[in-house]
Amino acid sequence: MEQYIIKGGRPLNGEVTISGYKNAALGIIAAAIMTDETVKIENVPNVKDIEVLLRAIEDIGAKVERSKNSVKINASKINSVSVDFDYIRKIRASYYLLGALLGKYKSAQVALPGGCNIGSRPIDQHIKGFEALGCEVKIEHGLICAQTVNLAGAHIYFDGSSVGATINTMLAASMADGMTILENAAKEPHVVDVANFLNSMGANIKGAGTDVIRIKGVKKLHGSEYSIIPDQIEAGTFMFAAAASKGNVLIKNVIPKHLEAFTAKLMEIGAEVEEFDDAVRVKASGRLGNTHVKTLVYPGFLTDMQPQMATLLSVSKGTSIVTESIFENRFKYVDELSRMGASIKVESNTAIIDGVERLTGAVVSAPDLRAGAALVIAGLMAEGFTIVENVEYIERGYENFEYKMQQLGAAMEKIDSEDSKAVRKFKLKVS
Ligand code: UD1
Repeated sequence: MEQYIIKGGRPLNGEVTISGYKNAALGIIAAAIMTDETVKIENVPNVKDIEVLLRAIEDIGAKVERSKNSVKINASKINSVSVDFDYIRKIRASYYLLGALLGKYKSAQVALPGGCNIGSRPIDQHIKGFEALGCEVKIEHGLICAQTVNLAGAHIYFDGSSVGATINTMLAASMADGMTILENAAKEPHVVDVANFLNSMGANIKGAGTDVIRIKGVKKLHGSEYSIIPDQIEAGTFMFAAAASKGNVLIKNVIPKHLEAFTAKLMEIGAEVEEFDDAVRVKASGRLGNTHVKTLVYPGFLTDMQPQMATLLSVSKGTSIVTESIFENRFKYVDELSRMGASIKVESNTAIIDGVERLTGAVVSAPDLRAGAALVIAGLMAEGFTIVENVEYIERGYENFEYKMQQLGAAMEKIDSEDSKAVRKFKLKVS
């Protein structure tokens, strides 16, 4: 098993370039199979979740050609609408293949999705969307099976704002007969990116980025070339890592508007954030202050940045309160942070954080993707050595994470837990 070893206490300095947004890429790759023509997608991050989705579409007959961060997809020879493999159950966004296959072939069977264990993750709103478009949806043998003779546009009011249900219904509706109106739609940047990509393929989608999306179905989609937006979560993670390490980092290839909730909180607790056209600089020195944070749908504070924020607050002055309002089980990293000396009490969906002077290095285990990144930030701040186990979670969503950290001056390496000499070698190297 691979793990990260980190020696804390070094400020991050320099520049880091942010990769394409994994969560947008997942929707866009699924959408790419809706045309028989070739699609070229740029700025695709090399992360595990993307690898899995590309393998899944290859397995049902799509031709996939990868080179560095671009991928060409041709789905003219899809020979099955059934996607059920061990690996596909591990990622959440496998469900986008339902919307894409339904739009194109009016039939799909996809294994029930997995993904990070951050709370119960129902798919009732996806099903509501597909049923409203005229599909029959059943769960059988661990598969979601949906089919119809004819997809018909509909007026759909989602019960809650869901990124996944919005994108999935939008995918299917873009090839339905007539007009679909999605109300209470999610407004997140990746909903907009998937809509822009579908429009570049000839779809007719208006209003993405607001809570009402209007989709006029088209008979056919065509090939396209498209570049994915930068990853707001990777950018936010480096912003918080820069502040946590009391560093000075220019974070490049970002859309500063997508980072405003993080920028506001960093400035509120005393870090400096400077915005440029497509970059932000984060600087911090001294101990930062306390605040209250509540996760919300976009443009509120993103739930995927909650663990990184709480980690930073664990060494800030005073008492901070972090409330998680999107997923109920997103504080599993707190026990790990406590092993490093943090003082955090979780009561239902709220964490009460009493800032301590310092964290001390320990062996900790990443419970999920974003919490794993937060534990790396903790390691950067801690006195001594930290080992973060289960890095495969982190690699699901961060491209070249340790390399990017090393380029900023972090003493951090990926080692094999079976290699008994690796820890000693690292300690010698960095001391
Ligand atoms: C996406 C992101 C994830 C992020 C989340 C919220 C991807 C691949 N993942 O996840 O990183 O944390 O948005 O920004 O893009 N819900 C229902 N019924 C449904 C669907 C969702 O009740 O059918 C609830 C969920 O339990 C949750 C809330 O709605 O409480 C938001 O979930 P949703 O926006 O759908 O998250 P995902 O698309 O799974």
